[in-house]
Amino acid sequence: MKYESLPIVAVFLGLATAAPTPAAKNVVTFSLARAMVPREVPQEHSHNRFLDGVRVNLNLNNPNQIQDPVFGLLGNAAAAAGAGKITNLDCLHQATADQAFTNAKAAGNVTGQADALIFAALERNTGKVGLASVLCTETAVNPEIAAISQHQDPASSGAAAINKKIVLALAQQLASIGADPQLALLSGTFAPGNVNDNTGKGNTCDTADDVEGCIFSQNLLVDDATAAEITAAVSGVAVAAGTAANSPAASPVASPAASPAASPAASSGEACPTTPAVPATSVAAASSGNAVASATNEQTFTGTLGGAAPPVASSAGDRPFSVNGNTFVNLGAALQRSCAIQNNACANAANSGSLPGTSVGDCNAQETACNAAASAKVKRAALDFGSCSDPAIEFAPGLDGRTENSFQAVNQVDFNHGSALNIKVISSFVCQQLQNKCKASAATIAACTTAQTAANAATGQAAADAFNSALGVSAAKMIKRANAAFVQI
Ligand SMILES: *[C@@H]1O[C@H](CO)[C@@H](O)[C@H](O)[C@H]1NC(C)=O
Repeated sequence: MKYESLPIVAVFLGLATAAPTPAAKNVVTFSLARAMVPREVPQEHSHNRFLDGVRVNLNLNNPNQIQDPVFGLLGNAAAAAGAGKITNLDCLHQATADQAFTNAKAAGNVTGQADALIFAALERNTGKVGLASVLCTETAVNPEIAAISQHQDPASSGAAAINKKIVLALAQQLASIGADPQLALLSGTFAPGNVNDNTGKGNTCDTADDVEGCIFSQNLLVDDATAAEITAAVSGVAVAAGTAANSPAASPVASPAASPAASPAASSGEACPTTPAVPATSVAAASSGNAVASATNEQTFTGTLGGAAPPVASSAGDRPFSVNGNTFVNLGAALQRSCAIQNNACANAANSGSLPGTSVGDCNAQETACNAAASAKVKRAALDFGSCSDPAIEFAPGLDGRTENSFQAVNQVDFNHGSALNIKVISSFVCQQLQNKCKASAATIAACTTAQTAANAATGQAAADAFNSALGVSAAKMIKRANAAFVQI
């Protein structure tokens, strides 16, 4: 059967008389909220992909007539315009997540439940930089949602510790529903703004028509925890009965830091067959015949459900990236479009029955993995190691004659230093070399300092992983070329 997006849009409009106008998926204009209310620190569109997931699931059954998930992220004055029957505006955010979670759970949709959990952890707008938002004191219907509260302004008091706790709690809830706990990092917020800046802008972004969310496409997300910390936090968490059974076992989504190119395993039928698919975008479907030479193709995602993601060509010029004839200023946006086109083709194929055994949920999981791979690639592309190649650190036995495990840079040509038992010795040497010898960019030096801090918070392999993932490099992927230069594959 071929599904159309129309029923969902119709329901949505029926409920929302003063509603924002739905355009394409994710593209919703909130002229009402924007026109009538003085703007608070605007960032409600920073994580658009989760608003979109929540919107789809909220609208399956919306007894409180919440007009759109975005209202839950606005300050109370603006939120009032879209709160429907919810009167405690401090709780609109939670009520929105709670209802979407309930609906997604009833539909056996793990992606929907994960999106609702992540949405619940997103920061709400507040009136100025450094001001924390008020916590909802009502208890959510779903214990998974009740376990999570929203991120706080990174410039507010104690935010780093608070936000880290939130991300680890979120990771546990994600694990409990059978989703990838590393997705919790995507709920993170921006670098702290200047508390004396009375424009209230901080380091935020707020692009309403950025499908994925500008915090991802502009690479502004700050990780609240390391991948290793998340893994440790979920080590004792079992998948609750009745959640994963009728859905993909574990969301086959690559974490932003680790193994970004993992392609989603096809899962056996998600129990949600009657939900209409919302086409990802109105752009043309992916074509299997790629006209662009692979040498110039920036799209390296390997998932092939519904056909490969169309190539992203790069060239010189003001809008150097292009996908199926559309040009883009930045790589992230181009990769994201490519992922969306692939998803559209996949959803069409799943709905038309030409891909037996593939559900729209599988296509969405593929798109999430594709976007995660894109974010990781953008992060890597942004770092310039100057004249040196990747500074990944390994933790292994047998390094320069030792029997025990120790740390060392894989690339001993650019980062020539004996192994050490304390990663600090190696990480600070690597950062120094990047600055003095390699003449790496200032952004890279800053990232190296962050990587050092992350590494110091862990031990052993986890410390090496934390260092490498903060720099977007991987020791496992370093290969020694015949000419003794090290490159990352
Ligand atoms: C599950 O929810 C996601 C949004 O979180 C949505 O995109 C997807 O279409 C839903 N899956 C099904 C099978 O309804």
